[in-house]
Amino acid sequence: MRSQHLLIVTGAKDQPDRARSVSPGLRISLITRQEMWQRVWDMEKFARVIVLPDDTGDDEWLALARTIHALDPIDAVANFTEKDLDKAAIIAADLGIRWHSLESVLTVGDKFQMRRSLQAAGVDDTPCELVKSPEDLRAAAGRLGYPLICKPRRGISSQGISRLTGPDDLDGAFAWSSSGTHDLDSTDLIVERFHMGDEYSVECLSEDGHHLVVSITEKSVDREHFIELGHIVPAPLAPEAADRIADTVTRMLNALGVQDTATHTEIIVTADDVRIVETHLRCGGDRITNMVAAVKDVDMPEAAARRYLGQQVLAEAIRAVDAYEAAVDKQCAAIRYAVPSTIGRVTAVNGVDTARMLPGVQEVTVLKESGSILTQLTGSGSRAAFVWALGWSPEEAATRAQAGVDALEFEVQPQTP
Ligand SMILES: Nc1ncnc2c1ncn2[C@@H]1O[C@H](COP(=O)(O)OP(=O)(O)O)[C@@H](O)[C@H]1O
Ligand SMILES: [Mg+2]
Repeated sequence: MRSQHLLIVTGAKDQPDRARSVSPGLRISLITRQEMWQRVWDMEKFARVIVLPDDTGDDEWLALARTIHALDPIDAVANFTEKDLDKAAIIAADLGIRWHSLESVLTVGDKFQMRRSLQAAGVDDTPCELVKSPEDLRAAAGRLGYPLICKPRRGISSQGISRLTGPDDLDGAFAWSSSGTHDLDSTDLIVERFHMGDEYSVECLSEDGHHLVVSITEKSVDREHFIELGHIVPAPLAPEAADRIADTVTRMLNALGVQDTATHTEIIVTADDVRIVETHLRCGGDRITNMVAAVKDVDMPEAAARRYLGQQVLAEAIRAVDAYEAAVDKQCAAIRYAVPSTIGRVTAVNGVDTARMLPGVQEVTVLKESGSILTQLTGSGSRAAFVWALGWSPEEAATRAQAGVDALEFEVQPQTP
């Protein structure tokens, strides 16, 4: 049998290697934009690589994909990121390759469009409005009522998230949220009802429109700037609560037309409802996939790669999830982030070896090494280190991860912000 040829749109670090490992002899061609260049690893392993300026139009992406296809027929298309999913959808449709529809990827990538779709499908009726100016925000807040969240329409990495409790917050919220759009394709913001409750993410695998909730993750968030400070896998939840979450997320995936891939959905469980915050056609970050693999024995990134290559993954994942449910002793995992409060230049990071030796600790990674600048929390990129650990209960895993973080000490030369 001829080995497969995969076109990856935008790079994704170790994901091409994972695809090669599940499809012997796989050739991978890559089309990416300059901004994503640092996500392309091991360039010499690709059959061909094309790098385009960030503002290159759809026509050129398509023409280049057609040229590659004429030289070496493309069997499968993949995109493991949040950028240029639209380009991948256009290319796949043109080459006759089954993929996410253009409508589906455009809806998922646009928080306003997503809300409209979920409202129309009766999945989630969170009121929201588009905002382009401080005047728009004031008028929308008058109609929606407080408390509210204002955020970039196409936001990522918790940048520019503002909570508004009353009219005094309007100007600051507009400025903060707008500052979060500096590296996005759109400066639009949305404002929506603030949901009070516990936050979770839901890791799903979809195959031919059948969805499996592989794991629900409990999230701790900084209440001022909504940066993720930790996660627990699986979330300690009563079975009925987990079922309600699975039901809402499944209906959301159907409403958004998601058929085949790994997804990472963020939700808030309020007193009365399960509310969708956003979803992604990719796996969760923050080592969630490592923790899911360690405790539930489901390798989500590998499953995503196999799905894009047309392989069946669901039956195996269902067996693994069922085995976890049936087990008497269940291993759990947790990650905690270090967020030192001093602003300034890091001169030393102590305690890393001590943290690595602590019970259950699986990984200690310093994100702000000596020489880095610690800023105020502006997005998930301002976190300084993380530790993830295993334990025999959610509490034990969380305590062990926190002990690892507590063992770290950042020596900082303070600077005025
Ligand atoms: N409507 C909302 N109600 C309450 N909190 C919200 C709401 N929308 C966003 N948040 C908080 O802000 C965080 C970031 O919002 P999100 O839409 O996920 O943006 P990003 O794409 O930057 O991750 C969420 O994880 C959640 O903590
Ligand atoms: Mg988010």
